[in-house]
Amino acid sequence: MWSVARVATAKGMAHCPETGGQGSSSFSEVKQLGEMMRACRDYQADYDTMLRAKLNYFCELPEQQQAYVGDLVLDRLRQCRRGVSQNAQFLAMMLKCYERGDGGPDTLVLAQDKQGEPEHDPQWHGHDCREANMSRVRRVFQQVYREWTVEGAQERDRTFLPLLDDLEREFERFRTMTNSDKKLQRHEYRVLCPGCGLGRLPLEIRRHGMSVQGNENNALHLMISNFLLNQTYSSEGVLLRHVIFPFIMSSNNIRSAADQRLCCSVPDVDPRELAQATDGGEFSMCAGDFVESYRDESSRNAWHAVVTSFFLDTAQNVIEYIETIYALLVEGGSWINIGPLLYHYADSLHIRSIELTLEELMVVIDRVGFDVVEPVSFVQAPYAADPNSMLQDICA
Ligand SMILES: C[S@@+](CC[C@H](N)C(=O)[O-])C[C@H]1O[C@@H](n2cnc3c(N)ncnc32)[C@H](O)[C@@H]1O
Repeated sequence: MWSVARVATAKGMAHCPETGGQGSSSFSEVKQLGEMMRACRDYQADYDTMLRAKLNYFCELPEQQQAYVGDLVLDRLRQCRRGVSQNAQFLAMMLKCYERGDGGPDTLVLAQDKQGEPEHDPQWHGHDCREANMSRVRRVFQQVYREWTVEGAQERDRTFLPLLDDLEREFERFRTMTNSDKKLQRHEYRVLCPGCGLGRLPLEIRRHGMSVQGNENNALHLMISNFLLNQTYSSEGVLLRHVIFPFIMSSNNIRSAADQRLCCSVPDVDPRELAQATDGGEFSMCAGDFVESYRDESSRNAWHAVVTSFFLDTAQNVIEYIETIYALLVEGGSWINIGPLLYHYADSLHIRSIELTLEELMVVIDRVGFDVVEPVSFVQAPYAADPNSMLQDICA
């Protein structure tokens, strides 16, 4: 992780050819949402198809092989199906508020399509696009685990606590730096959190009393964060908690059936506390691609801090992200970052991307004009990881 500050005078901008433009965007935002909603509806049926294929294969094994462990495997798969049904219920509850019209696509219009996404390429459409959406839906329960469960708190703490500590330090630094008589109030400190997933990090920043805006471009993440932040109440105003099985779809490195059936209740906190806060601070979400959403003049010099968690490597052009962050910050404002350099498009056949080393990245950060406040340090942080898995990927 690192913290850098925007200095008064830029040392010079790094220039780099644009990488976008591998095809024009023909995919409407509403259609994208519609397809994701369909994938949510198909989650159970899709699993059942997979399960049937597995059972068929198992039943084709020699009888003796089936007899060794058949009762255990069949019982485990039966239990897994129950867990998957529970996850499907969670998705159905979420979709219901869109069908009711109180959280529908209108509230989640994405700012811009991102050019070059394979989903936007008509030739890529059909089966591949559906499979990509299904895979997102299958994986999203692990993201819900990371952000909105008691069980995920340990993982969150490894990432969010260091970020929040640095944000506190940067807030104090900014306050002492400004020469005005009237010191900046906590709620006046404006923090932007691009690629905020399901919105937990912005919520934690708001809980620290600062004003915050989350930004996210994934339709499924937007739907779920909207659901968890705004819709999990009964008509009597009681917080409704949902049970999910985040790792029920895992097949690898599982120690036992019980581990696979780890079940969690969501959300772990009542997000209404935000609405009840009377300090004048703001909380908002901006739907859309980060660079496109904050390109306009009004976004420039508008934020005291940008906080990024596991976001930088989602870029096709990471230099464009860095330039955008720099332009968004007020003079003396800070960018605090944590996360690996596991570039999302590095192995893509469809999408071009630039993959810089940490060393190269720090050169860009310097040449774009940032001053290093807190040099690079390494924290061990898992990401949406099954705590019981025999294989633990930890980002250093
Ligand atoms: C690895 S996740 C990190 C989520 C969250 N920050 C966390 O630490 O749990 C990266 C997030 O960035 C989002 N994202 C990727 N590219 C984006 C873009 N161009 N604009 C906005 N969000 C983006 C993804 O949809 C995803 O939710």
